[in-house]
Amino acid sequence: MSNKNNITFAYWVPNVSGGLVVSDIEQRTDWSYDYNVRLAQTAEKVGFDYALTQIRFTAGYNAENQHESVSFSHGILAKTERLKVIAAILPGPWKPALAAKQLATIDHLTNGRIAINVVSGWFRGEFDAIGEEWPEHDQRYARSEEFIRSLKGIWTQNNFSFDGKYYQFKDYTLSPKPVQKPHIEIFQGGSSRAARDMASRVSDWYFTNGNTPEELKKQIDDIREKAKANNHTVKIGVNAFIIARDTEEEAQAVLQEIIAKANVQAVKSFSDATREAGAATAEGEGNWAKSTFEDLVQYNDGFRTNLIGTPQQIAERIVELKKIGVDLVLSGFLHFIEEVEYFGQKVLPLVRELEAQQATAVQQEAELV
Ligand SMILES: Cc1cc2nc3c(=O)[nH]c(=O)nc-3n(C[C@H](O)[C@H](O)[C@H](O)COP(=O)(O)O)c2cc1C
Repeated sequence: MSNKNNITFAYWVPNVSGGLVVSDIEQRTDWSYDYNVRLAQTAEKVGFDYALTQIRFTAGYNAENQHESVSFSHGILAKTERLKVIAAILPGPWKPALAAKQLATIDHLTNGRIAINVVSGWFRGEFDAIGEEWPEHDQRYARSEEFIRSLKGIWTQNNFSFDGKYYQFKDYTLSPKPVQKPHIEIFQGGSSRAARDMASRVSDWYFTNGNTPEELKKQIDDIREKAKANNHTVKIGVNAFIIARDTEEEAQAVLQEIIAKANVQAVKSFSDATREAGAATAEGEGNWAKSTFEDLVQYNDGFRTNLIGTPQQIAERIVELKKIGVDLVLSGFLHFIEEVEYFGQKVLPLVRELEAQQATAVQQEAELV
């Protein structure tokens, strides 16, 4: 289990079919409830602290079936003891009053183990299909920010009033309030300027796509500086598709096979759809703005973080991520249960060892000063 100075690990819940790479390579991963319960139990046993569910309303890009995120999160929580499950919530389909009440109840049922990931929408086709309006990019974030402010108000205050552009509350009191204090943890996903600014004002956690340490550092410094000016603190989670094998050659061969067997048509359609999301913003900083075809074979640019190699190489790169300010690695795997187990046995102990060495070195340096 991690302590508060350690980097934290989360994994993507495969509640959507097709796995996490848009490729015809064999993926021994299943979207069923039974598989997910076994996965969650394995993950909490080997040291993962969080699991993240996805929300998708329609099929596309290999994801033919999609279980709903909040009910699926609760299903996993019911069968685990320690893991926190982060449920994806999409403002638009979800309204803050219902989300606040539903999540407060789940918080009671699970003794404070639910969290949420507020996502602002990237897939226009799905909004059209379910009859939801599609505000332009920055307006989607304006709505998400009001959504988060509403949740926080409802979860922490009695007689809550709010007069926003998208949501209004008048003297509203939720009872019971959530178990978690001050409130249920709030994550958000997205990397554009609007996403970063929202994180620096209201979110507890900022989730971003995979990227190189240099590019991640720019984002993190930017967000932390802004958050400081707003008297707010925000933690950082980074996506990575992890391929850990006994040798570097084996790991690289798996990556090459994933890409060689990419479903080209699906990746191209996905690429087109991302133009409606982060790639569409003028400043060009959003998710997928700079993604290549190969990057897009993993939905959230997870190859870019380069946690691909031997356990030692991966552990060293994770500790480098921690040094630039990353608090959590959000991991995806090809064969989920087997690889979560391998990661827990081979990689995690090395990470903890390196972190302990680093802490000792910092302490010795402080004593010398
Ligand atoms: C870790 C992570 C998880 C996400 N999960 C979902 C999801 O479950 N459903 C969804 O519609 N969008 C999801 N998104 C997409 C974002 O909410 C957002 O729409 C997209 O990243 C584009 O945002 P940007 O323009 O700010 O970069 C996720 C993004 C990240 C980084």
